[in-house]
Amino acid sequence: MISKLFHLLPIFLVARNVVVAQDSSGSGDHYSVLVLGGGIAGVIAARTLHEAGVDDYLLVEANTELGGRIRNWQLGDTVVEVGGGWIQGSQPGDEAQNPILTLAEMWNVSTAPIDYSDFSYYDFTGPANYSDQEAVAGGSFDSAMTLAGERRSQGLVDISARTALSLLGSVPSSPQAWASEYAFWDWEFGVPPEETSLIASALRNNYTFGDSTTSTDRISTDQRGFKTIVQSEAASFMTEQQLLLNSTVKSISYSSDNTSVTLSNGRVITADHVLCTFSAGVLQHNDVTFEPALPDWKREAISSLTMSSYSEIFMRFPNKFWFDSTFGLYADRARGTYPIFHSYDHPDLFPDSGILSTTVTGDYSRWVTAISNEEIKDEVVAVLKTIFPEANVTEPEELFFHRWDSDPWFRGASSVWFPAYTKVRQQNLRADIGGRLWFAGEATSRDFNGLMQGAYFEGQDIAQEILKCLNVTGNCAGLSFTDKALATNATA
Ligand SMILES: Cc1cc2nc3c(=O)[nH]c(=O)nc-3n(C[C@H](O)[C@H](O)[C@H](O)COP(=O)(O)OP(=O)(O)OC[C@H]3O[C@@H](n4cnc5c(N)ncnc54)[C@H](O)[C@@H]3O)c2cc1C
Ligand SMILES: *[C@@H]1O[C@H](CO)[C@@H](O)[C@H](O)[C@H]1NC(C)=O
Ligand SMILES: *[C@@H]1O[C@H](CO)[C@@H](O)[C@H](O)[C@H]1NC(C)=O
Ligand SMILES: *[C@@H]1O[C@H](CO)[C@@H](O)[C@H](O)[C@H]1NC(C)=O
Ligand SMILES: *[C@@H]1O[C@H](CO)[C@@H](O)[C@H](O)[C@H]1NC(C)=O
Ligand SMILES: *[C@@H]1O[C@H](CO)[C@@H](O)[C@H](O)[C@H]1NC(C)=O
Ligand SMILES: *[C@@H]1O[C@H](CO)[C@@H](O)[C@H](O)[C@H]1NC(C)=O
Ligand SMILES: *[C@@H]1O[C@H](CO)[C@@H](O)[C@H](O)[C@H]1NC(C)=O
Repeated sequence: MISKLFHLLPIFLVARNVVVAQDSSGSGDHYSVLVLGGGIAGVIAARTLHEAGVDDYLLVEANTELGGRIRNWQLGDTVVEVGGGWIQGSQPGDEAQNPILTLAEMWNVSTAPIDYSDFSYYDFTGPANYSDQEAVAGGSFDSAMTLAGERRSQGLVDISARTALSLLGSVPSSPQAWASEYAFWDWEFGVPPEETSLIASALRNNYTFGDSTTSTDRISTDQRGFKTIVQSEAASFMTEQQLLLNSTVKSISYSSDNTSVTLSNGRVITADHVLCTFSAGVLQHNDVTFEPALPDWKREAISSLTMSSYSEIFMRFPNKFWFDSTFGLYADRARGTYPIFHSYDHPDLFPDSGILSTTVTGDYSRWVTAISNEEIKDEVVAVLKTIFPEANVTEPEELFFHRWDSDPWFRGASSVWFPAYTKVRQQNLRADIGGRLWFAGEATSRDFNGLMQGAYFEGQDIAQEILKCLNVTGNCAGLSFTDKALATNATA
């Protein structure tokens, strides 16, 4: 049952807060739209408002610069991306170009192609060529995607990727097979197949990569940092008065005819509309209080996905002792133990930089988040000595990764649907509440869930819905939601 909530909201619950707002801040602290969060979604939402002539907005961001999960770090002389920095699905077939690539081109942000076929293979005995097993895992991935399409078109209930693989007869049972499987699933989604929705992963895969062979992923090599795409774009239309950095939102009050936001310094700002672009992890941790509390249908949707734990650990060594390929795949006896190595000391990237990274996800990522960098160094060096028994393996001079899980502004890397995806939960996640409180970000994107272009499109699309409700364009209809999300399993 699809309905709108406008007339149902308990207006009296927030009326007092609004009065307090007027008393404490005078009448000047009011905007048409408050955009909360200065990642891609927030900045593109603000641009969309600006382009429609609505400049009476304020963007509030807790950090001291824009960019959100796009963030860089310098090792030696080289700047690397420690968050979103790979443009995935740059230009599938004759579909529209990924807007993230368009932004990079616009601001002359340099990128390099990524060659996923350029792998070297290792296991716990040293070099070991199991590329045939990797090919089998790739075939299983493709079959699972096909199965997802069939099941979705039949309206069948969602299953985990693990269930799909098992149905297809793919039951990996050796370290080499686990590592091969990992390269297709965990490395991409940040969680193991048993925690991955088959339908949602297939949607994302379809829209990102399509069935085209022309789509090339690209990685930022820009020494200003990939955040330049967000910061330069913002600087092209946003004024100083429209941006409030270093300001943490503590609570959001909403009713059917007004909203107000309270910052940690006590400032209260009112607005006709609030757009919240905080990550699903921030919402799950109740870092921000909503008054009244979010309705059950919204809370269920927020709880139906997880924030992946995803750590790319960067190391700078005094000398390059590893493979000449782009990537190394390592099959440890324990699945997911430093499985992916990425050589940045490569002609396409940063030759002579001495930089090698290793990526861990899921429980192993939670483990490295909990231990010290020195302990991680010891673990990785031990693995590298196994992989390269003949080489002069040295200690890294520097080691860095961003601990996304314990960062209160993110609480994880990016959202992934549990095997609990339904069309209704997805719609409920992005639906507004009462035509006043709106949500956007990578998590609310159906087709590009977890990705930068998902955040981009959602910032744009939800701002367009707000514009309708500001009576600038079209009719204010809001987005549909279903109050009884549990009652349907439809995935289509
Ligand atoms: C390690 C890692 C690797 C990734 N790799 C890729 C990749 O290769 N390709 C890709 O497409 N995507 C990748 N992503 C995902 C991509 O970075 C995100 O999807 C995208 O940047 C999210 O943008 P957003 O605007 O939705 O959210 P965010 O960037 O999270 O923006 C939300 C903003 O809200 C702010 N905020 C939070 N709480 C508060 C508060 N209480 N008060 C005020 N402000 C607050 C935050 O500081 C943040 O700036 C990766 C992410 C990570 C972490
Ligand atoms: C990008 O580079 C081109 C070619 O060098 C130049 O013409 C253009 O002005 C640059 N744009 C920006 C925004 O720096
Ligand atoms: C690995 O094995 C495959 C065949 O299974 C072969 O085509 C390839 O050349 C081998 N690679 C190396 C580096 O030996
Ligand atoms: C993915 O795209 C293919 C080809 O267009 C389609 O047959 C399939 O149903 C799609 N999968 C999903 C999950 O929608
Ligand atoms: C951020 O704000 C705090 C106080 O709220 C202040 O102490 C700090 O200097 C500010 N940081 C920056 C970089 O502006
Ligand atoms: C919301 O509250 C502000 C400040 O109290 C006020 O200026 C504004 O007119 C109100 N808007 C609506 C739609 O009631
Ligand atoms: C190993 O590399 C380090 C650092 O480059 C160097 O100092 C050392 O002499 C090398 N050892 C051997 C045995 O080559
Ligand atoms: C909305 O816009 C229409 C057309 O410009 C106008 O007739 C109407 O009065 C406006 N409504 C409000 C509430 O401003």
